[in-house]
Amino acid sequence: KQAQIGVTGLAVMGRNLARNLARHGYTVAVHNRNTQRVEDLVEQFGDEGDFVPARKPEDFVASLERPRRLVIMVKAGDPTDAVIDQFAPLLDEGDMIVDGGNAHFEDTRRREKALRKRGLHFVGTGISGGEEGALNGPSIMPGGSTEAYESLGPLLEDIAASVDGRPCCTHLGQDGAGHFVKMVHNGIEYADMQLIAESYDLLRRALGMEPAAIAEVFRTWNEGRLESYLIEITAEVLAHTDAHTGRPFVDVVLDQAEQKGTGRWTVQTALDLGVPVSGIAEAVFARSLSGHADLREAGQDLPGPSGTLSGAEADRFADDVEQALYASKIVAYAQGVHQIQAGSEAYGWNIDPGAVAAIWRGGCIIRARFLNRITESYEGGHAPASLLTAPYFRDAIGDAQDAWRRVVATAARLGVPTPGFSAALSYYDALRSRRLPAGLIQGQRDYFGAHTYRRTDTDGTFHTLWGADRTETES
Ligand code: 6PG
Repeated sequence: KQAQIGVTGLAVMGRNLARNLARHGYTVAVHNRNTQRVEDLVEQFGDEGDFVPARKPEDFVASLERPRRLVIMVKAGDPTDAVIDQFAPLLDEGDMIVDGGNAHFEDTRRREKALRKRGLHFVGTGISGGEEGALNGPSIMPGGSTEAYESLGPLLEDIAASVDGRPCCTHLGQDGAGHFVKMVHNGIEYADMQLIAESYDLLRRALGMEPAAIAEVFRTWNEGRLESYLIEITAEVLAHTDAHTGRPFVDVVLDQAEQKGTGRWTVQTALDLGVPVSGIAEAVFARSLSGHADLREAGQDLPGPSGTLSGAEADRFADDVEQALYASKIVAYAQGVHQIQAGSEAYGWNIDPGAVAAIWRGGCIIRARFLNRITESYEGGHAPASLLTAPYFRDAIGDAQDAWRRVVATAARLGVPTPGFSAALSYYDALRSRRLPAGLIQGQRDYFGAHTYRRTDTDGTFHTLWGADRTETES
């Protein structure tokens, strides 16, 4: 029997994706370099659907109906290139290779170009949702050619999560568009996690609350506008007690956050595109700082305030933090959307931010109730200059900003670090400012390096003769 699609790379994500496809009635060829994984899958899950086990690459390719649809689920970087090099020579014109890993979009662009020359479609596809999502419905972010999507789309939309009857999968644009969007998704994921972590830290240090009590606060928040997967799992993690010590689990975990690199890529790419993603950058830096154990040890002697809140300030603080979290989260998404628009522009992808928000509503790590509002903000041809200027978000932040400012001020007063909240608020206030001190920066640049400046009152490029009589010259 010919398989409609094949999956090679049967670590947990690949295996679960193959099972998801099989459970949806597709005949799925399965292959893995170490064939034991193929045996294991068929043995454990063979009754979930039609699998065609393949031990050799040639058998795998031969088992696929044409044009072939082959999904590779291996580690990003060299392992992906190795698998492509192994399979591409076995394929025929019109066949499709889907890369479902967390590849860098520049790699995806390179691979797509090389394979296109050989008549093959290469479809870089972001898949979010972890193991559980891969099995029960992830958010799927495919790039690649329109032609390839015509063939793959129905399958991918079938196995994706769905919200309000709409699949969390749509063709985002050519070549690397899918992996670019997945990268920004992960950057937002980092920012979201950092903001939640700051909220927890504030409740703990400013109010002296215990993790179990904070878990209850998050549970309550999860019933409101902050409802999201990350808030939900935060409550679970905070409520968990370590079996060995009987202490809160969060207290026995080494406080050094790791990262596999997608958040860093988001920031690196944003720097290249000139997009200010300060919230995402602070989240990456905060993880990085947490890992500098020696530096932090040395920092233990540094002077600073301490103490907790009391009275009326304490009474309203948890509610204030909820508002600060919501406002800062909106800023993180606004920055991410900006980056997607800038990438789309730079690479000619024509990505619709509203459609991106729509496929993030289910399946992925950043799934959240408020994503509907982003989609709505872009509906009917609306293209706000920033998410922050879209009416719904403008009003939401308008309502939240007093509390947001109180939280950032309180954090500074008590000495609790809030890089995410603070950066988000500064970004917001920078957008609001009629004048920024950038005029002064231009003056400094012109002073020490004759870097020139433009004027507010006339066109042209100017330089002041700072070392001489300070007359202005036009260049
Ligand atoms: C997802 C996640 C996933 C990511 C992990 C780990 O959408 O399912 O984004 O793709 O790899 O969250 O990321 P870090 O190790 O960098 O935290």
